[in-house]
Amino acid sequence: MSELTIAIAKGRLQGESVELFARVGLRLNEAEDSRRLAMHDESGKAHFIFVKPADVPVYVEHGIADCGVVGRDVLMESEADLLQPLSLKIGSCRIAIAALNDLPKSDHSMLRVATKYPRVASQYFGGRGQPVEVIQLSGSVELAPVLGLADCIVDLVETGRTLRDNGLKIIEVIAESTAVLAINRASYQLKAKAIGELIAELRNVENQTQND
Ligand code: PRP
Repeated sequence: MSELTIAIAKGRLQGESVELFARVGLRLNEAEDSRRLAMHDESGKAHFIFVKPADVPVYVEHGIADCGVVGRDVLMESEADLLQPLSLKIGSCRIAIAALNDLPKSDHSMLRVATKYPRVASQYFGGRGQPVEVIQLSGSVELAPVLGLADCIVDLVETGRTLRDNGLKIIEVIAESTAVLAINRASYQLKAKAIGELIAELRNVENQTQND
């Protein structure tokens, strides 16, 4: 395998992504608490970079990384033009609408929606003809309805604990999400052998996991 640069989303997917690559022989020899943001694997076949989830599609689309592991939720929000040949079995979650109480049925008055996913939220409510004011936040989105900033939120739900602990409930699931292997279009052609091998090996590991 010639050298590939692989972008890993920091945060909730990071540990599982690193484990997955170790299972296909790309092991990192670095203390878990290291703050280094770029490093080679032990074999020298891959160069890993660690970036914010929303930046994975940016690095991959610009060809700085040949491929990356990132949640489908992030790709739905991104406008990057990437190949997505493989859904992985890690990072399973949902993007959902949540609120303190049920929302009024077919109400055409303006709904205030707080979210880290403004594009997903606008497209979803736009598709239903529901006028919305999208209020973009960077985190702790669940606070918005509690404090009266918004009527509902569009956010990621994994265990459901953050919703529960803040008195919110799911009103509707917009999409299911898992981590995805996203690939730069040019790399897919220029490094066809290395990328083809990586996809095959990841697929193998995923199938083994299914059979465990
Ligand atoms: C995400 C998401 C929810 C929470 C859901 O936030 O935006 O707040 O995790 O997880 P749960 O269903 O398991 O409780 P994150 O932890 O990324 O932090 P943030 O609020 O700073 O974005």
